[in-house]
Amino acid sequence: MDENKSQRNTFSNSLGFILAAAGSAVGLGNIWRFPYLAAKDGGGIFLLVYIILALTFGFALLISEIAIGRKTKESPLTAYKKINKHWGFIGLFAYAVPFIIYPYYCVIGGWVLKYAACYFAFQADAATEPGFFTSFITNPYQSILYCAIFAILCFVIVYKGVEKGIEKYSKVLMPALAVMVVFIAIYSLFIKHTDADGVTRTGLQGAAIYFIPNFKGLTFTKFLTICLDAMGQLFYSLSIAMGIMVAYGSYMKDDVNLSKSVNRIEIFDTGIALLAGLMIIPAVYVFNGVEGMKAGPSLMFVSMPNIFASLGKPGAVLGMLFFFMVLFAALTSSVSILEAIVSSMIDKFKWSRKKATMIMAGIEFLISIIVCLGYNVFYFELKLPNGSVGQILDLFDYASNNVMMPLVALFTCILIGWVAKPKTITDEICKNGEKFRRELLYKIMIKFVAPVLLLILLLFSVGVFS
Ligand code: PFF
Repeated sequence: MDENKSQRNTFSNSLGFILAAAGSAVGLGNIWRFPYLAAKDGGGIFLLVYIILALTFGFALLISEIAIGRKTKESPLTAYKKINKHWGFIGLFAYAVPFIIYPYYCVIGGWVLKYAACYFAFQADAATEPGFFTSFITNPYQSILYCAIFAILCFVIVYKGVEKGIEKYSKVLMPALAVMVVFIAIYSLFIKHTDADGVTRTGLQGAAIYFIPNFKGLTFTKFLTICLDAMGQLFYSLSIAMGIMVAYGSYMKDDVNLSKSVNRIEIFDTGIALLAGLMIIPAVYVFNGVEGMKAGPSLMFVSMPNIFASLGKPGAVLGMLFFFMVLFAALTSSVSILEAIVSSMIDKFKWSRKKATMIMAGIEFLISIIVCLGYNVFYFELKLPNGSVGQILDLFDYASNNVMMPLVALFTCILIGWVAKPKTITDEICKNGEKFRRELLYKIMIKFVAPVLLLILLLFSVGVFS
């Protein structure tokens, strides 16, 4: 019980809150997932849809979840029930999301670790070899080993309950990562490469593909796919529709300006994602052409070593720093995911932190092994309802981002928009007399636009329109 009490400590100030929430939000979603989706969906249109959704949709849901948390002061498993006694089931659905995400997040964390290790062992050249990534993931022992090391790091941090300790490093490393991403993004604009068949491509041409929407050949199904990808990415990146922000809100002090904090988290998170896209997409275009843009989850791992190699010797050092910081960003996010899984178990079953961490991290690791084996022993090519083909990792990713999260978000919109009414949230936001500038937009979003869009996309993602 004491343990439960001591967990509901509050952030001492709004900066502490923003940093912690941003630490959870900024992770592989921004640096690994956003660029590969933007590239797969052809750049400009995805970017446009993403930004529009972030300013309307993402903001409405993020602020709702943080407000639900702060109002109820409870973890997601019980918070929704407190808003309305029939809607407690949202907490259970929300709980399923981090449970599905965590195993594969650790697998990708392992990939980042492998690249970091490679650069630290002064083997930058090896990382640039064409078959490096594939031979790594198709080797079951290697991928499980690196995933295990990453998972153990997360386990130790959550087991000891020292995740607050990593905040200290986060204050230095996260801004450093941001600076580095800006630097590489600018550099990326100036690279040039000539193919074996004499075609020269430049970074600026790649940036144009990334920024300028190209509506040629856009079909309705393709447009829906892009919207679905952008929405799933938005949820994933902002850590919404999974209870995490409800938990963070419950730790937030009552006098913090909620809408300002939400704006900052959103700007930071979206800014890093956009820059990561600018860092990776022009480079992919330069080295691998338009075809290379369809690479999927391997995109960052294949393209970044090329950028570093083009820089010569200093590139190897830059690569070292880059993968180290990405590893750190991945760790702060994955720790927040495991923390969410563990703290709900502590709340629900009154388990001790140690017992809860051991059991949950153990189960999750077994699932991570299955995900790793999806690239070798259990390899198959699964066609997903949106038409793309993937392995076990993509299946997990699809289940959480394209099915479960929209479902949680839809239920949240109905609960807030129609059952409890938006006033529940707007009152919480303005309770110290703060101004809520986007109030009208918020109400329209949560009541009408978001639920309708979510329903359409949800039906699309389970294959109703295909
Ligand atoms: N938002 C994180 C990212 O963009 O990498 C990922 C994440 C964090 C997902 C926390 C889920 C979560 F509970």
